[in-house]
Amino acid sequence: MRVLVLNGPNLQRLGTRQPDVYGTTTLADVARTLSEQAPEGVRVELRQTDDEATLIGWLHEAVDTGSPVILNPAAFTHYSYALHDAVVIVTETGLPLIEVHISNPHARDEFRHVSVVSPVATGVIAGLGTAGYGLALAWIVERSGTDR
Ligand code: DQA
Repeated sequence: MRVLVLNGPNLQRLGTRQPDVYGTTTLADVARTLSEQAPEGVRVELRQTDDEATLIGWLHEAVDTGSPVILNPAAFTHYSYALHDAVVIVTETGLPLIEVHISNPHARDEFRHVSVVSPVATGVIAGLGTAGYGLALAWIVERSGTDR
C-alpha cells in the first residue's frame, strides 16, 4: 500500500515559518519520521505544492492508484471549493482521506475557523503539531488491516 501525504502552500517553509505556531520540524523531518514509522508493505510518499491545480491532480492520482491520503491543505482549507470537490472524488470511492493541521485553526484567526475540506474528509486531526501526520498514518495502517 502506498500512502500519499499531500501538503499545500507554504508548508515547504516548515522549520523556519512561524516556529511559535508550527514548531521547528521540517517537512523533510516529517517525511523521514513517517517512512520509519511505516510497517513493511506500506510506502509513504510525501509531496508539497503551492499550486492548487497540482494538489487536485494528486488527489485524482490517489483515486486512480487506490492510495489513502493524508492531506494538509494549508490555506486552501479555508476557501478552495475545487479542493473540496476533489476530496469528495477520493472519499466517495471509499479511500480514506485524513485532513491534518499542525496548528489548531480554531484557536487562531477567524478566517481559519472554517474548513471546506472537513465536511468531506474521513477524519480531521488538528493542533497536535507534526505528530498529527504520524497519528493519521497509524490510523490508516490499522484500518487497512481490517475490513471496515
Ligand atoms: C495549517 C493551518 C492553516 O490555517 C494555514 O493556512 C497553514 C497551515 C496547519 O497545518 O496548521 O498553512 O494547515
